[in-house]
This record gives sequence, C-alpha cells and structure tokens, in this order.
Amino acid sequence: MSKTLKKTSGLSTDKNWWRQAAIYQIYPRSFADSNGDGIGDIKGITSRIPYLKSLAIDAVWLSPFYPSALADGGYDVDDYRNVDPKLGTLADFDEMLAGLHKEGIRVFVDIVPNHSSNLHEWFKEAIDAKPGSKARDRYVFRDGKGVNGELPPSDWVSHFAPSSWTHESTFGGKGGQWFLHWFAPEQPDFNWENREVQKDFLKTLKFWSDRGVDGFRIDVAHGLAKDLSEPFRSMPVHEGLEQRGNKGKGIWGDRNEVFAIYKEWRKVFNQYDPPRVAVAEAYVHPERLPLYASTKTLGQCFDFRFIETPFEAGAYKAATQEAIDLAQKNKSSCTWTLSNHDQIRHATKMGLNPAVERRDWMLSNGTSHPLDMKSGTQNALAATLYILGLPGSTYMYQGEELGLHEVTDIPEKDIQDPQYLRNLKVDKGRDGCRVPLPWTKTGSSFGFGTGGAHLPQPKWFADYSVEVEEKDPSSPLSIYRTALALRKELQSKEVIKWHKTKDISVLHYSRPNGWHCITNFRGHAYPMPKGEILLASSPLVNGRITAGTTVWFWKK
Ligand code: GLC
Ligand code: CA
Repeated sequence: MSKTLKKTSGLSTDKNWWRQAAIYQIYPRSFADSNGDGIGDIKGITSRIPYLKSLAIDAVWLSPFYPSALADGGYDVDDYRNVDPKLGTLADFDEMLAGLHKEGIRVFVDIVPNHSSNLHEWFKEAIDAKPGSKARDRYVFRDGKGVNGELPPSDWVSHFAPSSWTHESTFGGKGGQWFLHWFAPEQPDFNWENREVQKDFLKTLKFWSDRGVDGFRIDVAHGLAKDLSEPFRSMPVHEGLEQRGNKGKGIWGDRNEVFAIYKEWRKVFNQYDPPRVAVAEAYVHPERLPLYASTKTLGQCFDFRFIETPFEAGAYKAATQEAIDLAQKNKSSCTWTLSNHDQIRHATKMGLNPAVERRDWMLSNGTSHPLDMKSGTQNALAATLYILGLPGSTYMYQGEELGLHEVTDIPEKDIQDPQYLRNLKVDKGRDGCRVPLPWTKTGSSFGFGTGGAHLPQPKWFADYSVEVEEKDPSSPLSIYRTALALRKELQSKEVIKWHKTKDISVLHYSRPNGWHCITNFRGHAYPMPKGEILLASSPLVNGRITAGTTVWFWKK
C-alpha cells in the first residue's frame, strides 16, 4: 500500500476483516450518473460515498467498469487494466478508492478470466492471425466438421447462444475456423493452458492490488479449465449443476485443473498486507465449494443456495446448517446472498406464489400471476435479517436495501441482456434487476442523474426511492441501516445454536454472545420470547411475531 493511502485510510488492520463482512454490490452503470448521459459512472459512486457510509457496510464490490462494448453488461472486457471512458478514468477510480477507504469501506473489483470481449487486443490479433499461430493459441480456435468445415467442431451448447462455437468469419476472420465461447459470441473463451494468458491475469491482479484494491470477485471461477481433448466429448445440453457434481472431470466447468490457477493467484494475494482476498462465483455442486474457498486457493466462494431456497422455515434451516458445516470443513466463512445482478430480485420472488413458474411469469411481463409487492418486500426484509444474523459474510445487491422489486415490463426495444436477445427470446433476461436506482421521489430519472436512465424506470420507483425511505423509520432502508450498524457491534464467534420453537414455521437461533434471531416464516402469530428486542423487520402485533417477520433480541 502506498504511503498516501496509509495516511488517509480509515481501514481496520484486521487481516480477517472478510470473514464476517457486509459487502454491497454496485452495478456501476445503474448506481449513479454524474454527467447526465444516462449511464452510471465512477464519479457517481464517489458522490454517493456518504450514502454507502450510512449503510455501515464493510466493503463494496463493483461489477465490471472496464472498457467494453456492453455485449454482456460489461462482462465482455476489452481491457482489464483500465476504466471504460463512458464511466470515467483511472484517476476517477483512484479518487473513488481513496474516498471509500477513508470512510473505512473496502473495495472488491470483478475479474472476468474465462473470456475477454471480441474487441480485446488479443482477440483482434487472433482473428487476423493464421490458424495454428501463437496469437490464436490464447483462445480456442478449431477447425469445423463437415466436408468443408462448415459445421461446428462439437455439439457444445453455450449459456447464451445455441452453439458455443462461432465461425470466425462473423468477426471478419479468414482462417475458416471456429472459436469457443461459453457465453455470447462477443465473449470468446481464453485458453487457460496458455502461459501468456496465465501471466497476463497475474499482471491484472497486481495492477489492481497495487492501486489499493482489497479484494476480487472472480467471474465464472469454475469455468477456466476445459477438457479440449479430441474427439470432443458430447454436451448437447448446457452442463448444469448436476453434471458438475462429476468430481472435477466434466467437460468444462469445475475441472480439477482449475485449482492450479488459483494456487498461483493466492501467491499474489499473499504478497500484500493485508493479503488481498477473493470470492469465487462458482456454480458448482455444494460438495465442491470448499475447493474454491480453501485458504490455498481463492479463500471464499459464493454459496448461492439462498437464491433458490423458498421462504420456508424447513428449507432455510437445512440450507443454513449445510452451509455452516461446509465452511467449517475448509476454515473459510459462509457467504450468504439473496440477490445479485443475475437474479430476479428476492423481494419479487418472495411476493409471488412459490408455485409460479418464474421464467414464464417474466415472459408475460409479470402479468400471468399477481405479485404482492408489499408482502414480498416484507418477507425479503425478514430474510435479510435472518441471514445478517448468521456467522459469515453477507453479499447484498444495490437496491435490495430499498426493498426494490424486479422491473418486469421493460419493453422489448429497450432490452439489453444477451440472455434474452441471444437465447431465442425464451428467457426475459436480467435487465429487470439492473434498472438504475431511484434516489429521489421525483425529478429526472428519480435522481439517478440529470439526464435519463439507460433502462426505463417504472413509476412505482418513486415510493421506493432513498428520499422517501429515509424519512420513514419503518422503511427497508431504515431497517437495513439499523441492522447493519447493529450487526457490527453484535458480531460474535462463527457458530450458532438452534432453539426449539412451538411452530414448525418459526426458526430461532442464537450466537454465543447472547444475540438471538427468530423468524416467523409462514406461521400463525407467534409469542415473542423473553429478551430485549433489538430490531424487528416488521412491528410486533400484541407482543406477537406475525408471518414474514424476523426479530433480533438480546438474552444472555
Ligand atoms: C457471470 C456474471 C454474469 C455474466 C457471466 C458471463 O455469471 O455474473 O453477469 O453474464 O458471468 O461473464
Ligand atoms: Ca454517466
């Protein structure tokens, strides 16, 4: 860390700061726009540091802000060591980082190692180069099948497009080959067996670490190693979690070779004081999570199980206990998360009848079944207090502190997400959780900026704005603020004890210091146990905890 940083830094010196941290994910394009062009930017984030401070979070995680043509919202990176001119400059980044550090807020940046964009210098070079060249070896180029190579090299299906192979002529290549992409064609996969690729990412990690970045979120961390032996194995359906429970020998996704890469990264992280930290985005079978979260590799791995866990006591208890057991196995800490930029906002999920098929519902623009926005937000708050009480870190997504819902009626002409555009339009995509935040009740783009917003904001955003919620002590924002501040003071050893309740819809656990958390999921009004009430996600009624409510209380 440089001298100036040290002087102005308000960061704790605790090396274990990440174990029980509260991390707030910023989706930069949709957070705050400083220059009125409708796109959120770095200076916008800097201008909102007081707000971030008011949330009492320990860190922010910034989704990609690197130069990008936005074929996949910035997860198509042109240059890993720069800031997108649409979002600012490296100097703006440094200013933001220093400002956040001064307030004691650490910063994670997003590293996207599985693929670059098609506009990355290396891919442009590869397209111009000959088959078999050094430039092509940084990616995965192969000859096609069929008499004239007119068919893709294998039947592999991509996440966004029907095939995971695109003919290079699409981007002007003349070598007659196909290239591999797990995601959109504008996101060609790197060849991770190539030493130059490996070394370039070490350079990127050092670049941001030297600037003072504290941690990294690793995109598609399970994807880098692939079985490229020929003849190619068959994968006519995109490999799901089930197949990834294949003990590290799948075609792509979660192969054992990937850990050698992270062991090398770990050496870089440990060169810094405090060591840089990382969290893996790895959609893998839960039994494989500890491999990514090991102290010898990335150190932490998102546990996404709460994203799909129905808001029910039994399911929550099982998910909690499994995650705690796993974390203890590898000496990592738990990573709770309810929402992120890829998921339907959890307030919306929790306001829908659980039997509703959400993909169809989204495709109907949210009209095929009723959404109870009020109870969705209420349940979401109860779920948040439930997970914030647990040992480990919590990763939150911008806007959830406002109880925001998914925007379901984005007109087709405005949709940006390749998950819709490229995926035969059978999935509405993820734009609905990426709509720019409402800061004020009125005004241009609800205070997001002085111009418009790059995705249309619905009218109901007014009532969910920071301005409105700040004035209401019972709003989601007020409760998040209180909860996060309290959580810091109450933090305790990384264990919980379950307490019996008289209703199977009610869960009660406590931490060793006397911090208790009780949640009534869907049960009858439940008598409040003895103890000093610290915070309730919804008011008690006649001394009872009603359905969709969590209460924190203190009892020695
Ligand atoms: C991750 C990101 C997602 C992106 C994909 C490809 O899953 O979270 O937004 O589309 O990787 O980079
Ligand atoms: Ca802007």
